[in-house]
Amino acid sequence: MRPVGETPTVEDYRDFGERQSGDSPTFRDWALGVADDAEVLGLIDTLPPGKRQPNLVVAAARWHGAEPVPYRVPGGLRSVLLDRWNVVRETVLARATQTNEVGRCATLLPVLATLPQPLALLEVGASAGLTLYPDRYSYRYFSGCVGDKVDPVDGPSPVELDCSVEGEPPIPVRPPEVVWRAGIDLNPLDVHDDDAVAWLRTLVWPEHHDRRAQLAAAVELVRADPPRLVRGDLVEALPALVEQAPREATLVVFHSAVLAYLPADDRARFVDLVRGLPGHWISNEGPEVVPSIDAPEPPAPDPFLLALDGRPVAWAHGHGRALWWL
Ligand SMILES: C[S@@+](CC[C@H](N)C(=O)[O-])C[C@H]1O[C@@H](n2cnc3c(N)ncnc32)[C@H](O)[C@@H]1O
Repeated sequence: MRPVGETPTVEDYRDFGERQSGDSPTFRDWALGVADDAEVLGLIDTLPPGKRQPNLVVAAARWHGAEPVPYRVPGGLRSVLLDRWNVVRETVLARATQTNEVGRCATLLPVLATLPQPLALLEVGASAGLTLYPDRYSYRYFSGCVGDKVDPVDGPSPVELDCSVEGEPPIPVRPPEVVWRAGIDLNPLDVHDDDAVAWLRTLVWPEHHDRRAQLAAAVELVRADPPRLVRGDLVEALPALVEQAPREATLVVFHSAVLAYLPADDRARFVDLVRGLPGHWISNEGPEVVPSIDAPEPPAPDPFLLALDGRPVAWAHGHGRALWWL
């Protein structure tokens, strides 16, 4: 995932189709369809740069009825963008890419497990806060035909996350102990708000039925004990929230698929800020997003670089399906 809004639209859609949408044939077809369609590119280019992102435009079109059929088939992406542009545009401007991917907990878990327990988790760019609950989910890690199962202390969770691994990540016997959790988001989503949950579901790519099922199960689980989410910019709101974390727990500030939405200056300000905090910092972002973290050669197209305190520890599939431990 590249920094958002910094690439010409045509390149952004071509890159999305060729590299980023590997496990969604519909998104691949749609993104490449847009990249070859001057009329639709012209419409998208009337949006502010940060709003032209394929994930957001496509989700807005699906919100207004685009069916997962080939790009030019009536009812598919092209016809909805052209015929319903005014409402699609309104949705793009009113909402944001807030995909809350619980699968990412599977790639974060081994890093969290290496830290002194118990943990105080603080996620910046938390969306609805579903990835603040790594201790409440069940995990199955696969390496060849061997699997490791990790369940919460009180038994298997209704949220089950599968992850294939390469290398030797320190997979724990139990999830970490979390004694405090809180998040920051420009627009925190409330797990009790059906409209917000419907938008989260629309952001999941069409073929990804497993991700929709995980999302539904996680929303159900988190509704029983919703997280504390602070509305605000992550750089501005972070110091005050850090002050509220219990001193006796290890503070972990983490983020996945968030810094790409910040301008380069703000990303640098955040990195300076987080490096000066007590505790630890976990970054799970595209390798171009935090240039101060040196990235080794990636093992697959478009993985996230997982780094602890600015040091790369693994490559991670963007939705948490795979982990390549370094
Ligand atoms: C793609 S979502 C990822 C959500 C979550 N981290 C996950 O992995 O599932 C990005 C989130 O970052 C939030 N965000 C973007 N820029 C932000 C900023 N400057 N301050 C706080 N939150 C921000 C968005 O509102 C959105 O909820």
